[in-house]
Amino acid sequence: MSESAEEQTWAAALAALRAGEVVAFPTETVYGLGADATRAEAVRKIFALKGRPADHPLIVHLLDASWLDDYALDPPPLARRLAERFWPGPLSLVLRRPPSLPHAVTGGLETVALRAPSHPVAQRLLRELGRPLAAPSANRFGRVSPTTAAHVRDEFGDELVVLDGGACEVGVESTILDLSDPTHPRLLRPGGVTREQLLEALEGLPLGGADAAAPRVPGSLESHYAPRARVDLVLADELAAACARAIAQGERVGVLANGDAPEGTLHRRLGDDQAAMAQGLYAALRALDDLGCTQVFAVLPPERGVAAAVADRLRRAAAPRPPE
Ligand code: TXA
Ligand code: MG
Repeated sequence: MSESAEEQTWAAALAALRAGEVVAFPTETVYGLGADATRAEAVRKIFALKGRPADHPLIVHLLDASWLDDYALDPPPLARRLAERFWPGPLSLVLRRPPSLPHAVTGGLETVALRAPSHPVAQRLLRELGRPLAAPSANRFGRVSPTTAAHVRDEFGDELVVLDGGACEVGVESTILDLSDPTHPRLLRPGGVTREQLLEALEGLPLGGADAAAPRVPGSLESHYAPRARVDLVLADELAAACARAIAQGERVGVLANGDAPEGTLHRRLGDDQAAMAQGLYAALRALDDLGCTQVFAVLPPERGVAAAVADRLRRAAAPRPPE
């Protein structure tokens, strides 16, 4: 894009956001569908576009830790410490909802998830707008998150302005840490900031997990992040037999795993290291869909570092789906 075309897209994006409309923008994790988080009617347009149930909360994006006091009610010292350490970056903190953010953003909850994205396009957008952006991943509800502007356009066509910031560096959504009770931090979703990094930053405070009492939120729904193809998880030494059976049944079989794939299958590698696995995961799932696969077999990576988020998303992609 020429420099002036790019500036025109910027001007259109800012004008749309100021008019209470929705714009797609890149973050370091995945692309988001953003609207002014302080305006309920703007936020409702995100839900409509995404086809997301109104009681599923959105993440609110801030410029940096200096915005914390305006968009969280009495943030505890631990939140400030973690924000200063990990922001801008892929960590969302669940804190108490302040009066400045409408219930439409939080799906009626009295808590809100906040993060500061590090992508330069997101940073510039927040700085120029001067307001927080509510933004879920820019995909239809339940589907695979987009990691390029082309993925967003595939899904939403020309319905909205899409700022193109290239391929997302992290590739999976942010880590969500619930600090609504700061004495019992809980990891609700693994992501770009690893469990290992959090444990170190928590300095001995125990780290809990999601529990049954936690609000039902879409990232915690069983089936999510799913391509069109059916996904099943297999152990590496079961892969060949599973593929042979599926091929015999007439399936067009995709394999998402490192190492070799059996003959007659379409193969995408997961990536050679943790970062590459996360970065390439969603594009690989989309590619297998585009190749017409009806059945994908995935082998989970060892769950260390950001690969824990890769394994989490693959499990959800493989979870039983609700009837369409
Ligand atoms: O990396 C990301 O976090 C991306 C980019 C765009 O920033 N956003 C993202 O948003 O993943 P979304 O809407 O796809 O996921 C938001 C998730 C919800 O599914 C829910 O699990 C959690 O954030 N969440 C939001 N508010 C919450 C709250 N008050 N309490 C608990 N969980 C919450
Ligand atoms: Mg999402």
